[in-house]
Amino acid sequence: MQNYPKLLICLFLTFSFPMSNFAQSGRIPVRAENGMVVSSHYLASKVGEEILSKGGNAIDAGVATAFTLAVTLPSAGNIGGGGFLVYHGANGDKTAFNFREKAPLKASVDMFLDEDGQIKDNSNHEGLLSVGVPGTVAGLYKAHQKMGNLPWEELLEPAINLAENGFESTYNMNWFLKWVKEHHDDELYAATAKAFLKNGEEIYKPGETWKQPDLAKSLKRIQQNGADGFYKGKTAKLIADFMKEHGGLITEKDLANYEAEELAPVTGTYRGYEVVAMPPPSSGGVALIEMLNILEVFDLEEAGANSAKSYHLLTEAMRRAYADRALYLGDPNFNPKMPLEKLTSKEYAKKLQEGIQIDRASKSDSANFNKAHLRYESPQTTHISVVDKEGNAVSLTYTLERSYGSKIVVPGAGFLLNNEMGDFNPIPGHTDTKGLIGTKPNLVAPGKRMLSSMTPTIIAKEGKPVLAIGSPGGRTIINTVLQVVVNMIDHKMNIAKAIESPRIHHQWLPDRTRFEDFGISPDTKKLYEQMGHEVYEAGSQGQAMGIYIDWENDLLYGAADSRSYDGKAEGF
Ligand code: GLY
Repeated sequence: MQNYPKLLICLFLTFSFPMSNFAQSGRIPVRAENGMVVSSHYLASKVGEEILSKGGNAIDAGVATAFTLAVTLPSAGNIGGGGFLVYHGANGDKTAFNFREKAPLKASVDMFLDEDGQIKDNSNHEGLLSVGVPGTVAGLYKAHQKMGNLPWEELLEPAINLAENGFESTYNMNWFLKWVKEHHDDELYAATAKAFLKNGEEIYKPGETWKQPDLAKSLKRIQQNGADGFYKGKTAKLIADFMKEHGGLITEKDLANYEAEELAPVTGTYRGYEVVAMPPPSSGGVALIEMLNILEVFDLEEAGANSAKSYHLLTEAMRRAYADRALYLGDPNFNPKMPLEKLTSKEYAKKLQEGIQIDRASKSDSANFNKAHLRYESPQTTHISVVDKEGNAVSLTYTLERSYGSKIVVPGAGFLLNNEMGDFNPIPGHTDTKGLIGTKPNLVAPGKRMLSSMTPTIIAKEGKPVLAIGSPGGRTIINTVLQVVVNMIDHKMNIAKAIESPRIHHQWLPDRTRFEDFGISPDTKKLYEQMGHEVYEAGSQGQAMGIYIDWENDLLYGAADSRSYDGKAEGF
């Protein structure tokens, strides 16, 4: 996977750098011997590292980092959202935790529609109808109950401390603070203004200390009472009362009934490595394995990283896997017959490979979906990778859906609610070129989980984890993870280069490929377009957070994507 870590090691040793706290510099991985945490906020990574150094295992550090991100990275870190955790132990044990949000019991298939069958006031993405029953606290608690080492109370302490005593705000939040100031008179966002603005009115300047006393109290209730400290008692009542007062659907019963699930990860292989990833209700693992199976027959190494030929083959794999994603995938508790074995099999990939021409783009066949292109999915989610001293690995991705979720803070509870209901298909049977999709597996139903693209993944070799990887990015997540894996396995990049390398995104429909700004040379673009692909360039894609385990030399290499504002890899 990596040919030159030894060279790197020699360089580091020659210059006698200390073992910890290398400043991360883009394409050079951070190196550590005893444990590492990589996340989208430097304070959260530090908390995770400290938990590891106190004897916590990868689950403990993942849990503590996630609670800290709920304080320091409110755009995506959360207790009001949901997500997934994939675990691969050094001893070969594998498991996964599903804490995706659920539709409330009062939800219905047409809950977002007006009399004309159109989406009313963007209600699937905005306001209280967009909020799913949060899953994060239940998921973190369940993972800790099953596999944690340190006491639960200890894992909450750093987050409570940062919420109570504050930390320096960064420019990352600035656009949101401006939005909150503009909306602070709106009753729905009054508690958001109280939580995020200085004295409920002024925007914090970067460097000013931001405290969150109500959030600290909510975290203390979780610290004292575990998951019940969120799903029962004061916090549950604050959520349910607020919902009732403002036309939301979530009740105390929804909260008391919420349960996280432990699931078997979905697995596949790629060029001798094992791929261990999240099954539905995430589409991530299935689509990732399907794409890797398709790509396996092609010589990507020979095609060369970031070449037109490589991009063409990646695109053809993406096109096919995303079509299957739309057709087949949803919450397994409501779709018991999803053909997961078929979609992740080498035989099926062989059939798909046969339709790929080596120098010609195929066309996305939209016949099934009435010329659909896929609806918008927000890029705001966040990923944590952890490896502990024993080499146990955790890959955890969680989200509020859009940046800052619904932007609604629960009064008195101090945390943001998600707007994850927007990940359901909103209009049954209606798929159109404006970005709506109405296929059955992912329609709203009471108690159902909405389909996700989050792709927390662990790559293993000979029964041991070698890579923990994941990213935010809505539907682009699966392609981001795919490209990091291909960069490392096929192109032999180190973890930092694999993460920094430019990325592409194709999602079947619309039938065009997105490149990052300045992510493709004009020459490559010309060659790629000549094969029949349509290209557009925009923004940047994902914020991957990864750790590579070099078992031969007992070293860890980590990298936080430079696309992330405050991300950091911390090891010791
Ligand atoms: N809300 C983004 C996802 O779950 O994929």
